[in-house]
Amino acid sequence: MTNLAAYRPYWHPIAMSEEVTDSPRRFTLLDEHLVAFRAGGRAAVLKDLCIHRGSALSLGQVVDGRIECPYHGWQYDADGACVKIPALPEGHSIPRKARAQAYQVREEAGLVWVALDEPVAPFPEWPEACRFGDDRYRSHVVAAYDWTVGAGRAVENFLDVAHFPFVHEELLGFRESPLVSEHDIDHDEFSMHYFYSTVQAKPEGGREKVSLEYFYHVPLTCHLKRQVPDGRWLCVSLLPCPVSAGTSRLFVTCVRDADLDPEYDAVYSRFLDDVFNQDKAVVSSVRPEEIPVDLREELHLKVPDAAGLLLRRYLGRIDGVGTVA
Ligand code: FES
Ligand code: CO
Repeated sequence: MTNLAAYRPYWHPIAMSEEVTDSPRRFTLLDEHLVAFRAGGRAAVLKDLCIHRGSALSLGQVVDGRIECPYHGWQYDADGACVKIPALPEGHSIPRKARAQAYQVREEAGLVWVALDEPVAPFPEWPEACRFGDDRYRSHVVAAYDWTVGAGRAVENFLDVAHFPFVHEELLGFRESPLVSEHDIDHDEFSMHYFYSTVQAKPEGGREKVSLEYFYHVPLTCHLKRQVPDGRWLCVSLLPCPVSAGTSRLFVTCVRDADLDPEYDAVYSRFLDDVFNQDKAVVSSVRPEEIPVDLREELHLKVPDAAGLLLRRYLGRIDGVGTVA
């Protein structure tokens, strides 16, 4: 992705819900510093910049649901309107231009999502198969991983099945069976969907056949539902925040239909930590750090790289180069 600004009119997660409290905190999305805080329970996200003298609002405090600038105490509400200027003499009104830039916010899947510009695509729809928060299952936010590559690189890695025998040897794949069989990918304007069958290690030892069902929604949301023959399944979602060029914060959530007791969350989180750390070790070395959308910049194989190729077409379309065939 050469032009990161192209991601602005899409929804991106910036924080775990629990990180947004009545103590303001700075987050960064697409090089833009944001301040997030709670106003009466509602998550509010403003540009982290006071219009008066440019101080960082995140250094201030929340007073009665408004964020107070640390410098001269101006107070802004959750919509960015300045509602108090302590030094203003009586009879003087607050200038209409006294506003902080406020952004559209949603809370979904235990995360706070922001669109910097008016969204041009729907909020990424959760596949019915792995709906976060459905009380028939157990859902939890696993972690936020900081990676020093662009979010697109993390997505391509998540959608790729050819790396299993090498990066996740003896866990998600085996060196003696590296072949990737042909698999059809369904896709429409905003999303792709495909199945892949393979053999992976059983947690209790031995190997088992698994069915992997992949979902991708533009620009950076993806889910993997892993099902074993007895029907048990696990859905892992990769929800990346494109922080800046070559930097991403990867939110990972998990929904499962077994071990419903919350005490098992830690077991699943540890497993996913191991897998994502194995990926991180290799993917952090990938250059360029941002995923190229010009297909001539790399070498692609038709079958094993089919999802990665399509991903580049979606991102290229967002970037204004090319179309999704
Ligand atoms: Fe924010 Fe003056 S800089 S109130
Ligand atoms: Co991997």
